[in-house]
Order: sequence, then structure tokens, then C-alpha cells
Amino acid sequence: QADPEIRKGLAGVVVDTTAISKVNPETNSLLYRGYPVQELAARCSFEEVAHLLWHGELPTAAELADLERAERAQRALAPNVRAVVDALPTTAHPMDVVRTAVSVIGADDPTTADASRAANLAKAVRLFAQLPAVVAYDQRRRHGQELVAPRDDLDYAANFLWMTFGEVPDAVVVDAFRVSLILYAEHSFNASTFTARVITSTLSDLYSAVVGAIGALKGPLHGGANEAVMHVFDEIGSADEAEAWLERALAEKRKIMGFGHRVYKNGDSRVPTMKAALDKLVAHYDRPDLAALYDALERAMVARKNIQPNLDYPSGPAYHLMGFDTATFTPLFVASRVTGWTAHVMEQLEANALIRPLSAYVGPAERHMEEPATA
Ligand code: CMC
Repeated sequence: QADPEIRKGLAGVVVDTTAISKVNPETNSLLYRGYPVQELAARCSFEEVAHLLWHGELPTAAELADLERAERAQRALAPNVRAVVDALPTTAHPMDVVRTAVSVIGADDPTTADASRAANLAKAVRLFAQLPAVVAYDQRRRHGQELVAPRDDLDYAANFLWMTFGEVPDAVVVDAFRVSLILYAEHSFNASTFTARVITSTLSDLYSAVVGAIGALKGPLHGGANEAVMHVFDEIGSADEAEAWLERALAEKRKIMGFGHRVYKNGDSRVPTMKAALDKLVAHYDRPDLAALYDALERAMVARKNIQPNLDYPSGPAYHLMGFDTATFTPLFVASRVTGWTAHVMEQLEANALIRPLSAYVGPAERHMEEPATA
């Protein structure tokens, strides 16, 4: 019999304080260090937001120049990481590749065991700088394409696209990508961030925390949903099929990917900003069919279940239009969320307590093995 005190999935349980972000479902708002995410998406580079998450304040011009210098200096795919990625089959899921790559980066780093804030900050910047190369190279090798070396005249978002596609797309595309990175960067105690904090609470290292967080993010109830949304779109095919498809899916008790949220029950605060970016991509690539399917499924889901889309709903098709493989979508989320995860690792260490909850035992009552028969 379940204990009435048990909160399945820790729903509604407050486990600690954080100064990094605030999710407010009542006002449908999300603040990073006090700033509304929409404002950051409208005015900042992803590098500025990374600095804000790590340090608590937007960077001065000199601080931003320092971060840009450090990031650009570490962008090239490290030889050991490349060797391990090359040893993996091209059929491996890109989330498994990126998880393995972070493990290699950690094993290669002589400062892994140094838990000082300065060392962890340097590790956070290293992962921030290295992940685009891993994600971009993995997509390219699946298509039999060569590694593209980074360009240090480009900012983070433009260089990421350059390394993936071997060209810098139109400004509207780079901008939509930048917006998605900012929106994905941080979201309080979501499953992957909590995983990172649990691992950190044992005084394990930052890379281990990020590896664990990637594992948590991979699942379709969390980050894997952006990939799953695109599979749903492929399955439905066109707008006029959306309603009938939804009826069948709900009859089969399927969860509709890209809809619903544990915290937001009246809509995800990040969706309007990402939807506006998607609309620009739809116009740029002239894909009204995709927009029609998007609208038709959303309308049907709201009418039928009154469940609103989450960020993965607009970001999935946006990444598709940019040219990313569907399987690359969740690694893009990793590249962004690593900023939030690492900020949480450092915050956890500032006032650490081992995270070790209790459970209510419902197995057999105490019992004993029979005495062995004596001859
Ligand atoms: N499709 C169909 N029914 C749903 C969905 C959905 N996407 N989301 C919630 N429901 C139903 C659910 O079945 C339940 O119905 P009933 O009361 O009849 O059993 C009711 O709504 C309440 O849902 P819940 O399961 O209590 O909600 P939760 O807080 O446990 O789940 C969720 C949140 C995100 C796991 C869930 O909404 C879901 O599975 N969504 C699809 C996956 C997805 O898009 N995940 C991305 C989450 S946000 C961004 C991110 O982290 O990447």
C-alpha cells in the first residue's frame, strides 16, 4: 500500500533553493538570474547568457571578450575525442555519442578532480566550447562528410552552424538558432539538472554530473521530446490528417510528444518566443505545409485535451528546417543546457548536502531461509 506522504515523481516537492532561474507558472514566466528569458532572447548572444548563468550578472564588455576568447580557443575537436567518436558506429544514437564524448573530455582533463569554483568554471567553458564540435562532427560523419574546422571570426551560434553545414546560413536562421539555445539553457530543477545535482552532491566531479544529466535528458519525457515531435510530424504527414491521427494516438493511450509540462499547466512560457522564430524559418524556407501541420495538431490537442505545447514542439520543426538530422535535436539541447547544468553543479557545491531521500518499503515482511536439511 503506497504511503500517502509519497509524492510520486517528487511532484510539487521543493528540494532546495536556487538563485539561477525562477519558473513561475502563475504568470507564465521564466527568469534567468532575474531577467525574463524573452528579454534575453531578444537582446543577448548565447555567450552573454552563459556568462549570466555562471556568474549571476550579464558580462561587462571585457568579461564577454574573455569568455569569447576562451570559447574560441577551445572550439576545435580534441584528437582523443575525435578518435573515440570515430570508433563508434554511425548508427549509434547521437545522444550516446555526445554522452561518451563528455566522458572522454573528463578523462583527458588533468583538473577533473579539482572541485574549486575556478577549476569548475574552466571545465564548464571547456564543455561549452567543445560540444558544438562533437555534435556537428557526429552529424557530418553520418552523412560521410569531412570534419569542418571552427572559424574564430564567428560567434558561438554561427560557428556551430558553420561546423555542421560547412556554410553560414542566412541571418534569420542563425538568429532562430541563437534564440533556441537561449531558451533551452536553463529551467530550474528539471530531471536532468536534478540528476546533475544528485551526482554533484556525492562530491563526484563536474564531468560525471554532465554525463548523468545527458542520460536523463535523452528520455522522450524530457529532452528527447524534440526529436520525438519530428517523428510525430513524419507519422502524421499533413495537416488534414492531424485530427484523425490524434484520435487514434489518444485511443492507444499514447503521450503526445511536445505537449504538456510538469510545472506549466497553462502553457510553457518559452513557446511564444520559439514559435515566432519558427514562423520566420517557415517564411524563409517557404514551408507553409509544415506550419499548417503544426497548427492543426496544436488546435486538435488543445480542443481534445486542453494540453498546451511545450518548448520542444516549436523547436523540433525549427531544427528540422535548419537542416539538422532529427536524431541531432536532443544533442543541440545538451549543448545549450550544459550552461545551466554546470551553473547548478557550482551552486550545489556552494552549500552541499548529500541528496539521499527515503523510500517506503512494500516488499515481503522479514522472513528467513529454511534450515538446510541435516543427514
Ligand atoms: N499527451 C497525452 N496526454 C497527456 C500529455 C501528453 N503529452 N501530457 C499530459 N497528459 C495527460 C496525462 O495522461 C494525464 O491524464 P490523466 O489524468 O487522464 O491520467 C494528465 O494529462 C496529467 O498529466 P501528468 O502525467 O500528471 O503530467 P506530468 O506532470 O507527470 O507529465 C510530462 C509531464 C511532460 C511528462 C507529460 O506532459 C508528457 O509526457 N509530455 C510528452 C513528452 C514531452 O513533450 N516532454 C517534454 C517536456 S518539456 C521540455 C523538456 O523537458 O524537454
